[in-house]
Amino acid sequence: MATFPEFISQNEERDGVRFSWNVWPSSRLEATRMVVPLAALLTPLRERPDLPPIQYEPVLCSRATCRAVLNPLCQVDYRAKLWACNFCYQRNQFPPTYTGISEVNQPAELLPQFSTIEYVVQRGPQMPLIFLYVVDTCMEDEDLQALKESLQMSLSLLPPTALVGLITFGRMVQVHELGCEGISKSYVFRGTKDLSAKQLQEMLGLTKPSAAQGARGQQAPQSPLSNRFLQPVQKIDMNLTDLLGELQRDPWPVTQGKRPLRSLGVAMSIAVGLLECTFPNTGARIMTFIGGPATQGPGMVVGDELKTPIRSWHDIEKDNAKYMKKSTKHYEALASRASANGHIMDIYACALDQTGLLEMKCCPNHTGGYMVMADSFNTSLFKQTFQRVFAKDEQGAFKMAFAATLEIKTSREIKVSGAIGPCVSLNAKGPCVSENEIGTGGTCQWKMCGLDPSTTLALYLEVVNQDEDEEEEGGSYVWLMEKLQGLREGQHSSRPADRQLTSAGTACPPTAWSPFLQVFNNSPDESSYYRHQFVRHDLTQALIMVQPVLYAYSFNGPPEPVLLDSSSILPDRILLMDTFFQILIYHGEMVAQWRKAGYQEMTEYENFRHLLQAPVDDAQELLHTRFPMPRYIDTEHGGSQARFLLSKVNPSQTHNNMYNWGQESGAPILTDDVSLQVFMDHLKKLAVSSAA
Ligand SMILES: *[C@@H]1O[C@H](CO)[C@@H](O)[C@H](O)[C@H]1NC(C)=O
Ligand SMILES: *[C@@H]1O[C@H](CO)[C@@H](O)[C@H](O)[C@H]1NC(C)=O
Ligand SMILES: *[C@@H]1O[C@H](CO)[C@@H](O)[C@H](O)[C@H]1NC(C)=O
Ligand SMILES: [Zn+2]
Repeated sequence: MATFPEFISQNEERDGVRFSWNVWPSSRLEATRMVVPLAALLTPLRERPDLPPIQYEPVLCSRATCRAVLNPLCQVDYRAKLWACNFCYQRNQFPPTYTGISEVNQPAELLPQFSTIEYVVQRGPQMPLIFLYVVDTCMEDEDLQALKESLQMSLSLLPPTALVGLITFGRMVQVHELGCEGISKSYVFRGTKDLSAKQLQEMLGLTKPSAAQGARGQQAPQSPLSNRFLQPVQKIDMNLTDLLGELQRDPWPVTQGKRPLRSLGVAMSIAVGLLECTFPNTGARIMTFIGGPATQGPGMVVGDELKTPIRSWHDIEKDNAKYMKKSTKHYEALASRASANGHIMDIYACALDQTGLLEMKCCPNHTGGYMVMADSFNTSLFKQTFQRVFAKDEQGAFKMAFAATLEIKTSREIKVSGAIGPCVSLNAKGPCVSENEIGTGGTCQWKMCGLDPSTTLALYLEVVNQDEDEEEEGGSYVWLMEKLQGLREGQHSSRPADRQLTSAGTACPPTAWSPFLQVFNNSPDESSYYRHQFVRHDLTQALIMVQPVLYAYSFNGPPEPVLLDSSSILPDRILLMDTFFQILIYHGEMVAQWRKAGYQEMTEYENFRHLLQAPVDDAQELLHTRFPMPRYIDTEHGGSQARFLLSKVNPSQTHNNMYNWGQESGAPILTDDVSLQVFMDHLKKLAVSSAA
């Protein structure tokens, strides 16, 4: 019998499910007393190495309004060859292929270890995947050169039948015709005027794949659906590699005191329109690479005068962000067109200043696209992150998935309130849809244009059944205990919406929480970026973002987790901090001195060399597995980059409690924030007291 924590982690590993409460309220009344909503984090494509995929179609409940899938919780009558649906209690006959079924001969879907099951079904035509590159050319040579190399490299990672296309932009937008004999040809558009899909269709002479080409099963692999702008990579990879190699910086001169004119809004609109006209409802990825903000036309976020800076939080608060609303609207319209067609929109923004992620965030958010932010395209952060987009599994298949539909079925005691994560509503009504919406609600089906093994959604549930004796005295006592238990076992709420976090945190939350709750010290783009990552990762990763983890390495024993607290900073320790976005190694004062003196080079201090190496090895492992790749920082006592650690460690020694500051020699941090411990204690007290 597994312990409770084991049971929880088993559910997460096997089913990709983690609940905010592990003890459920039994009635609506009990549910109203919860401080944190009943929710499940679901990671649909979580990698399950022990779970072989099933090569046949699922068996469905015959009730037209149910259509639930046969599963291990269904009651089976082996003699009568019947199964009872555990959602609607309908009795169903097994299909003819299941005649051999018996207690000792069960199909996989009835075995308890298959509480999650992956069916591989072959249906419909095999459509090629589509990758449309949208490339900013207003950037420094170093960036452009590095970007060109990354793009060329990516061609070799695509399946040979994948269709690729290229749009470049600066002051103008160019749609490149691929596969024209000999000369390279492109269509040039002004960056100041938006084009409807219909206009674009006429100007580029686009046609949808004809019925004969697209008809089920009729498509021969040799006649891929393609057009002049989207060609199979196996046919044009040499020429496209050359074309990318020849890309130049935008030739339009940029005068002193001006920003380059960057037609990002129109370029993205043309990309969306091109795919909308030619490949609706086909798996496609629009990958946009930008080196700065849109400065003209629809979607512009700042003017071209350098003396006018891009909007700050202060401007936004003062309603002084001139372009923000209009720009956001432009990108929202693009996001909704792309998501309606099942197309993913990625944004790779590499620049020192803001690029307008705040305005554009809906594009990756609604389409399951990636948002990657780095200082330059010539950084391993960008290069390795981009390479990881094309990661493959052991069978050589992409880990990325396209155009998914997520449907939730519930038994009648539960309704679905909504989902938070990279999805859009499919507006599927039904008896299990709650009227109380949380996130994207009012539906039991969502579209996820893009997802990968770590993509996680939060699904909010509502308990609706009435309990006849719910006011009974003993009941509420048991409930109170259970709630405490839930709080402990579940490591507090899993991933509540900002609103819930804030209301529980009536005490000022500690510094570490700031990327999600406070905007101090972060630009609007940075906040958008942090929040984007926060709402699409699983519990463990999201918790690291909220509360970074700190490990200590010393001669006193094996590495150990220590409190995220200034008292953990000791002279003879090395610390490894993981904030999800940064991996930082900090050498304490003495360790730094020994390192400077070169003890690690001396044979008699081999153990010191091992001590230095251990956190580096652990950091490498994190750097290799995480997406996006974190920033790696190696620093020491007194180092300028130590500020990244000092800004995160919890102010246990503030000027409010300096009386115990002394020999213990942790570093004091001056701040008014309460400590994490105080905050957690407060949160627990709130959770319990509101039930009384
Ligand atoms: C990119 O950065 C590396 C390391 O900083 C440097 O050696 C290289 O020259 C840079 N690439 C370009 C194209 O400037
Ligand atoms: C590729 O480029 C070569 C040389 O410019 C040209 O002859 C050939 O037709 C091009 N192939 C395609 C498929 O565009
Ligand atoms: C993503 O979109 C949803 C639905 O429109 C919205 O509620 C959520 O705040 C967005 N998330 C981010 C990080 O922008
Ligand atoms: Zn049913």
